[in-house]
Amino acid sequence: MTDYILEVQNIHTFIGEFHILEGVTVQVPPGSITVLLGRNGAGKTTTLRSIIGLTPPRSGQIIFKGEVIQGRRAYHIARMGIGYVPENRIIFRDLTVAQNLQIAERQKGDLDRKADFIFTLFPDLKRLYTLPGGNLSGGQQQMLAVARALVPDNDLLLIDEPSEGLAPVIIEQMMEAIRQLSSHTTVLLVEQNFQVASRLAERYVIIEEGLSVHAGLIADLVQDRDLIKTYLGVA
Ligand SMILES: Nc1ncnc2c1ncn2[C@@H]1O[C@H](COP(=O)(O)OP(=O)(O)OP(=O)(O)O)[C@@H](O)[C@H]1O
Ligand SMILES: [Mg+2]
Repeated sequence: MTDYILEVQNIHTFIGEFHILEGVTVQVPPGSITVLLGRNGAGKTTTLRSIIGLTPPRSGQIIFKGEVIQGRRAYHIARMGIGYVPENRIIFRDLTVAQNLQIAERQKGDLDRKADFIFTLFPDLKRLYTLPGGNLSGGQQQMLAVARALVPDNDLLLIDEPSEGLAPVIIEQMMEAIRQLSSHTTVLLVEQNFQVASRLAERYVIIEEGLSVHAGLIADLVQDRDLIKTYLGVA
């Protein structure tokens, strides 16, 4: 028996002929926030896309809740209980906030069941419920993108760079929301902002040029200035 809700074991992923991931291993314990760190182009997004099945790995293994999932279709993997929030806050700009949330339902009634929880995390969305997504600020769109993943019951959320391009006060709100939702759902996060990552996550995995090179507790990483400097380029 495994203690992890998700185990990514030595995956190799190609995009076209390009060998993008050359051995990525990520172990995610349940009930925690794990962050993928690494420089631009390291392979963080490709790792999330490999897990959800959008760029399926050519070799290695991905085990979710004890079942091998690589090779299954993305919608099938999602239905097993994985929510995916891609980078660049992808929402439907012409649909209202309400419609954006409704079409995220996996089963009828999901939104009714989850609305209170979602509005507790993101009160703005209640206020803006009938407005088109395109009218929302960048921060509000990011909140809507995360909220969409909360509509169905998920056991794991993959969230790609939720703080990117947001003002500090909005980043704080987003961090607080992720912290709160993580007591219900395990989170695997990509976060380039090391300050944000180190305050939010319990565990980390560093990806460097398509390879996972380090993993452990964030509390240990923040003490290790050399490691941070070598792989993340921040002092
Ligand atoms: N469609 C594609 N075709 C060719 N190469 C790609 C494609 N998508 C990504 N790559 C390459 O794969 C590598 C990993 O990209 P990925 O988006 O996973 O990195 P990342 O760590 O998420 O970077 P960032 O921090 O900039 O978001 C990069 O070198 C990138 O140029
Ligand atoms: Mg990325």
